Amino acid sequence: MTKRVSGDQKSQDELVELFANANRVFVFTGAGVSKESGLPTFRDLDGEWTKYDPMTFATLDGFLQNPVMVWNMYRKRQKQVAAAQPNPAHIVIAGMESYYPEFLLATQNVDDLHERAGSRKMVKIHGDSQRVRCLDCGESRCASDFDLPDEFDNDTLPKCPECGSLCRPDIVWFGEYVPQEPMFAAVNAASRCDLMLIVGTSGEVSGGYGFAEYAMRRGAKIVEINPSEGALTHYTHYWIAEPAGAALPPIWRLVAATHPRETSD
Ligand code: OAD
Ligand code: ZN
Repeated sequence: MTKRVSGDQKSQDELVELFANANRVFVFTGAGVSKESGLPTFRDLDGEWTKYDPMTFATLDGFLQNPVMVWNMYRKRQKQVAAAQPNPAHIVIAGMESYYPEFLLATQNVDDLHERAGSRKMVKIHGDSQRVRCLDCGESRCASDFDLPDEFDNDTLPKCPECGSLCRPDIVWFGEYVPQEPMFAAVNAASRCDLMLIVGTSGEVSGGYGFAEYAMRRGAKIVEINPSEGALTHYTHYWIAEPAGAALPPIWRLVAATHPRETSD
């Protein structure tokens, strides 16, 4: 049963014990973890899908019908991401990977703030907004390898240096498969973990990929950090109903102070 956690001492102590006694940790994040870095989520009231129709801006059909318009939206987002900085939630999550003997972060985010916070034991299951991929040969490259204009027109859309075909943002759109390797690693980690953290995702896409269910079946404890209840909250043992960048650092400071471990780097 889910326990909604407020700032009370008893819940704080329980969470610190839970974090400190875990050994195999799986973290699943979504757009909410980057919200305090100034990046919008998708389904909140001020989210991207309230401004942009996802069928136009997040499907291959929409892209093929109007690549200039779709690219311009992602170009704006690339610049927003480049200007944003990791927040304390990204930093705490990056710090966790050397504390636990087994650790994996699976993010749905296409920004690079987890990496810039120092996360290495991670997989990106929805691709990477800072990369572009050829529609024909499938070659993926860093956006910075191209001399991309601030705004595209028909003549300046990114073309593959190998085969000359149109390139698209290297992310997963609706109706597309998530890449197999990161997905396999995430399913494996979710199925083995003793603690799962769900941070900043509504869990609306593909039922959160079943990760919470795999973790639950294994008997893992599940903690969610999200100011709003979502599709995965009913799986959780603890729901910290606060913004992640505010909620995670005080708990993690206590874990590190009261239960220091040799780091596993
Ligand atoms: P959503 O927009 O669906 O959900 C964002 C979640 O973040 C919501 O549950 C918010 O309550 C929560 N949130 C907001 N601020 C927060 C904060 N400061 N701390 C913690 N949580 C906060 O975003 P995702 O679940 O990531 O796909 O959406 C999944 C996918 O749908 C995205 O990866 C995207 C979209 O279509 C692609 O871009 C391929
Ligand atoms: Zn190509």
